[in-house]
Parts: sequence; structure tokens; C-alpha cells
Amino acid sequence: MDKKFRTKKIPQFCYIRGTNVSCQPFPSVSNIHQTKSKINILAISGSLRPNSSNNAVITTAATLVAGEIDFIIYGGIGSLPHFDGSEPPTPEVTGFRKLVADADGVLICTPEYAFGVPGSLKNALDWTVATGEFANKPVALITAATGGDKAHSSLLLTLTALSARVVEKGTLLIPFVRSKMNTNNEVTDAGTIEAIKNIMDTFIDDINNQNLN
Ligand SMILES: Cc1cc2nc3c(=O)[nH]c(=O)nc-3n(C[C@H](O)[C@H](O)[C@H](O)COP(=O)(O)O)c2cc1C
Repeated sequence: MDKKFRTKKIPQFCYIRGTNVSCQPFPSVSNIHQTKSKINILAISGSLRPNSSNNAVITTAATLVAGEIDFIIYGGIGSLPHFDGSEPPTPEVTGFRKLVADADGVLICTPEYAFGVPGSLKNALDWTVATGEFANKPVALITAATGGDKAHSSLLLTLTALSARVVEKGTLLIPFVRSKMNTNNEVTDAGTIEAIKNIMDTFIDDINNQNLN
């Protein structure tokens, strides 16, 4: 993992856009839980919208596991150049690849657009095909959209092509996501919150078990 995160002892909630990184401790974490950071999860949202419901789902996921892990939210997929296979890559591409490579697991949370995966997310993933950062990487996938099933299955296929290891029971489809949020852009539906908590617990358990072996 990047040194600037490794050196931090308190579980962090970091937001990365381009080369700007800002980290802060989870506000709800009590001191007793702030003793060590075991694993780090990189979260990637497939939405570029400021009031994105997928970003809200990621925030919910981060808050639900506050204190257990370092949680890095990558906000830079919109800054990556269109994939053209050029080498050497831009610093943004290099940075993105390194974040994926250094993560113990990657949580992808995405909407569906026109029955498919958002282009900016697919573009980001395409930048890792040749260099293999996703190979055997534990991945959890949440698709939050109106329907979302087509993007969900398409992305699972792409993750297969990347040789990612999608965690068993580590996928969640949240249809009609807007109806599960309040006007402050927070996930409020109890069943949805429970499902997000379950998927995160499964994801963290899987990563911890893998690290033990
Ligand atoms: C141009 C456009 C196309 C969309 N196409 C689909 C679609 O094919 N399937 C679907 O389930 N939702 C579709 N949606 C709805 C989005 O998935 C939904 O608004 C979602 O909440 C967007 O994610 P976000 O809030 O994280 O930005 C579409 C929305 C837009 C704006």
C-alpha cells in the first residue's frame, strides 16, 4: 500500500481525486477501535454525479465498517484518459493502477446506463487489463440503479476477463435505489442497509481469511 496510508495507525476514510488525497479518521470510531488498521479496501464508484446514490451507498458501506479497516474512496475515474493502450501511462493511470494493486480488496459500486456499465468505469478497468492489477484481487460488487441487472452481469463478465476474484456472496443488486434514500442523499431503507452490512462483513471476512492463509 502507498506509504502515506501505511504509516497511519488509525483507520482512515480517504478520498482521492487526481493527485489530491485527503484522509480523516472515521468520526464515529471510538478510541478502543483505533488501535490498528488490518486491511484496506479501495472503493470505486461508477458514477460521476455529485449527488450519486452509488457514492451514498459507498459512504454507507464505509460507515458500517468504521474502525475495522482503512477505506479509500477513489474519485478519479473521470480524470483517467480514454484507454488507448499507450505506455508509459499518465500519472493518473499509474496512480489508479497502484491503488488497485495495493488494496487488499476492491469494492465496486455502480449504476447502469443504457443497459450497460458506465463508460468511465469500464474505461478505468480497461487500463488494468494488460498490467493485471485485478488478477486474483478480492472484489465485491454492488450495482445500484433503477434495475441494474444488465450492468451487474456485464461487469461480472469483465471482472472474469480481469481474473479478479469476486468474493462468494460478495455481490449485491440494489434496484430502485433512489427509493431507498432520503432527500439528504442518505441510504435510509433498513433492508438495504442490512444487505450492505452483510456484503461488507462477508468481504472483510474473506480478505482476513485469505491473509491468514
Ligand atoms: C442516461 C441514463 C441512462 C440510464 N439507464 C439506465 C438503465 O439502462 N438501467 C437502469 O437500471 N438504470 C438506468 N438509469 C438510472 C440510473 O441507473 C439511476 O439514476 C442511478 O441512480 C444512477 O446512479 P447514481 O445516482 O449513482 O448516479 C439511467 C440513468 C440515466 C441518467
